[in-house]
Amino acid sequence: MKSIYALTALAIWICSARGQSQVWQQCGGTGFSGSTTCVPGSYCSEINDYYSQCVPGTDPNAPSQSSASSAPPSQPTGTSPPAASGPLKFYGVNIAGFDFGCNTDGNCQASAAWPPLLKYYGHDGEGQMDHFVKDDGFNAFRLPVGWQFLTNDVLGGPIDDANLQEYDDLVQACINSGAAGCIIDIHNYARWNGEIIGQGGPTNEQFAATWGAIAAKYANNSKILFGVMNEPHDVPDINAWADSVQAAVTAIRNAGATSQLILLPGNNWTSAETFVSNGSADALNKVTNPDGTKTGLIFDVHKYLDSDNSGTHADCVTNNIANAWQPLATWLRANGRQALNTETGGGNTDSCAQFLCEQIAFQEQNSDVFLGYFGWAAGNFDPSYVLGEAPTQSGSTWTDTSLVSACLAPNKH
Ligand SMILES: *[C@@H]1O[C@H](CO)[C@@H](O)[C@H](O)[C@H]1NC(C)=O
Ligand SMILES: *[C@@H]1O[C@H](CO)[C@@H](O)[C@H](O)[C@H]1NC(C)=O
Ligand SMILES: *[C@@H]1O[C@H](CO)[C@@H](O)[C@H](O)[C@H]1NC(C)=O
Repeated sequence: MKSIYALTALAIWICSARGQSQVWQQCGGTGFSGSTTCVPGSYCSEINDYYSQCVPGTDPNAPSQSSASSAPPSQPTGTSPPAASGPLKFYGVNIAGFDFGCNTDGNCQASAAWPPLLKYYGHDGEGQMDHFVKDDGFNAFRLPVGWQFLTNDVLGGPIDDANLQEYDDLVQACINSGAAGCIIDIHNYARWNGEIIGQGGPTNEQFAATWGAIAAKYANNSKILFGVMNEPHDVPDINAWADSVQAAVTAIRNAGATSQLILLPGNNWTSAETFVSNGSADALNKVTNPDGTKTGLIFDVHKYLDSDNSGTHADCVTNNIANAWQPLATWLRANGRQALNTETGGGNTDSCAQFLCEQIAFQEQNSDVFLGYFGWAAGNFDPSYVLGEAPTQSGSTWTDTSLVSACLAPNKH
């Protein structure tokens, strides 16, 4: 989560305004003004009210033609498979606190971390996770932590055992909640105290050493996901950044964590919208496991729904489908890759309930390429925080915020 974004022009995903739409392009839906005709060999398939796209083949709902004129159109070659609908693998919430004090320039102080656990005088993150699993059907949590907390403020230093023990209390609470996934998220914006990893700041070796030590600790736990870095931004050289990510991946795998998912973050605050256009997709698509495969390497993307994409406003203005999720789905499918949306959310307002529910529905309609989403945020945030998702407890009863109830909780939407 960042506090400021550059002001953003509302991006409009331009489908060919003239002529016919290409395979996998949009061809209809609420507010769509491009071509509703698809190139030969494909047809316009309605995904939902706000999105139709050209898919290869013949429209099954088209009036049947006489046998004389119906030579079947040839399948276009080199196209990707169609979208598959179904439940997402991960329905999650961020449990924030260990990242408190981390600024977007990667300045954090170990002493500013605030563990979201009662035993450390934080909120009851353990109770929250238990409630989210039991009452709402969530099955995953992201657990942000500052790099400085892990090494007790020593750049390049070893993991601090006492600090890791505190963080591990939260990890174990996640595992014990019954969740299927617990993300370890280093929440440093590609930086340490203002300097970019591998580009003037910490070396890739220092970054990889931290990840290697964490991975060694969790190597045998299949519920752990490794979130390499939260929201890189303004990273000048995306290929150099991919090298830093590669160093982390290699260290994690070589530490024995050979099968868990690793989340690869792109530039521009891991924006789902510019992941492809800004070059992150091409650069990170080259990152591999030590054996040369890409198994278990998942792209990490964020998206908020407010007017400037910042996740700081109570009202939402977009479901992000046309500008972000659909183009990303198309790229992922064409390249045989998958992504996980580890931050999204909005205020407890009607507009956010509408748009976030639409975004989630779209992700479920493309669950072959989207593994899930994580709301921002519960943990040590109060429900009064504009994007607060922390439930409130009265006796043994937990009450969710309205956006959790309306959209995020898989049992309820
Ligand atoms: C970052 O992403 C936002 C949308 O999420 C976009 O509006 C903005 O132009 C992007 N900035 C850069 C530098 O690519
Ligand atoms: C993980 O499992 C392997 C094989 O069972 C074992 O050799 C190794 O010590 C375990 N590592 C940890 C950190 O528990
Ligand atoms: C990505 O965004 C940066 C600004 O953060 C810009 O300098 C760069 O040219 C962009 N790269 C591409 C490939 O669009």
